[in-house]
Amino acid sequence: MNCCVVGLQWGDEGKGKVVDILAENSDIVVRYNGGANAGHTVVVGDSRFALHLLPSGSVRPDTICVIANGVAVDPETLINEIETLAKKDITLNDRLFISENAHLVLDYHKTEDRLREESLGKNKLGTTVRGIGPCYSDKVGRNYAVRMGDLKDLQALKAKLQAIVDYKNKIFAALYNSEPTSADELFEKCKTYADRLVPFTTDTTEYLHKSISGGKSILFEGAQGTLLDLDHGTFPFVTSSNSSSLGMSAGCGVPTKIVDKFFGVAKAYTTRVGAGPFPAEQDNDIGQYIRDRGNEYGTTTGRPRRCGWFDAVAVSYSITIGAIDFVALMHLDTLTGLKEIKICNAYKIDGQQTSFFPANAARLSKASAVYETMPGWDEDITEVRDFNDLPLNARNYICRVEEMTGKPVTIIGVGPERKQTIFR
Ligand code: GDP
Ligand code: IMO
Ligand code: MG
Repeated sequence: MNCCVVGLQWGDEGKGKVVDILAENSDIVVRYNGGANAGHTVVVGDSRFALHLLPSGSVRPDTICVIANGVAVDPETLINEIETLAKKDITLNDRLFISENAHLVLDYHKTEDRLREESLGKNKLGTTVRGIGPCYSDKVGRNYAVRMGDLKDLQALKAKLQAIVDYKNKIFAALYNSEPTSADELFEKCKTYADRLVPFTTDTTEYLHKSISGGKSILFEGAQGTLLDLDHGTFPFVTSSNSSSLGMSAGCGVPTKIVDKFFGVAKAYTTRVGAGPFPAEQDNDIGQYIRDRGNEYGTTTGRPRRCGWFDAVAVSYSITIGAIDFVALMHLDTLTGLKEIKICNAYKIDGQQTSFFPANAARLSKASAVYETMPGWDEDITEVRDFNDLPLNARNYICRVEEMTGKPVTIIGVGPERKQTIFR
């Protein structure tokens, strides 16, 4: 069976945990979009892994890991991640394959991300400052892009970097009055990246198609969430890749028709980091309660996440465009202790009620959430492993989410640990 896991909200839904669980029955796990803006957490016993570029299957010692063409690879972060796992006796040798067509995030991308955000002041997007937007801009622009495969020909890369750095220096000086950077220094760093990463670099499209023909089971891991998708999210408050399931085939060269099941991951409430409209946001005691109980601080940047009620309008939209079969609903335990729990089931925009999500920041910012209220529960549910052992109000909440979204909730998270999961 081949599966794909994507986020149904604005990221951080718990994809890392779900991918780690499903990886038990997969031969290969593939990351196909985004870069080190992602932070995917896997908790196994006392060990906690925060993965930015390696697929979340990497903590399982026999799982093959692929970083496909659609990923923006920050080589420094990737090398650090490989070393961090090695320190825990988890080696990636012979089981990590990086696409030669994946684009590299280099220092000037991170500089540009920072300079641009600073210059925008209160209009900034609130990016992770990991150089994602500038790297994908260079990919689309073509002339000044560096790919993993370029690390294989250092002489050609040296000349290429000189031309790129000259160009970037002129732009950064003109727009931001910033000091020039040295192409030679960047080239020295790239030599180290080449030493460490070229051994893992290959044609991953060929590798994946051969694996499919050989009957291997593949798990595709989306980064970010559907509402951050460049084309289908809340533009411009999005990331720079197709982070819905629609990005899967372009991001790895494998058609979606080989995927048997699409899993959408959502939290039992909603969070968002960075700027942009968020109709069900609770910028109040409820939001703080969720943030404290759910430890809602960014895995990548440590920023406090904005918190709000479950938004069935937004999640239904993500399910529809992503052809999602099953929902994994995480962090049910975080809602414990609330007297009442609300679900947003419609928006009012300019006096009109709608239940179809407008993926347009201007229209969405006019939306006020229409809620339905359900009774909460007080019992600790973190040790529950069977749906029928959940408090009645928690079961009713799950069933209402299923009715509103039209899809079965087959995985329920009741804590961060691998084992704190209910399967239905
Ligand atoms: P991702 O980006 O979608 O992989 O999600 P993150 O790792 O950025 O954020 C999810 C956070 O919630 C992590 O700290 C997880 O360990 C944690 N988590 C995942 N599922 C659950 C759950 O069911 N309950 C609780 N309390 N924490 C969870
Ligand atoms: P995972 O995979 C949550 C958000 C940023 C910002 C916007 C653009 O862990 O779910 P970028 O750096 O991509 O240019 O920032 O997207 N963002 C995420 N939010 N989880 C993520 O990844 C995110 N990756 C990017 O906060 O609002
Ligand atoms: Mg995350």
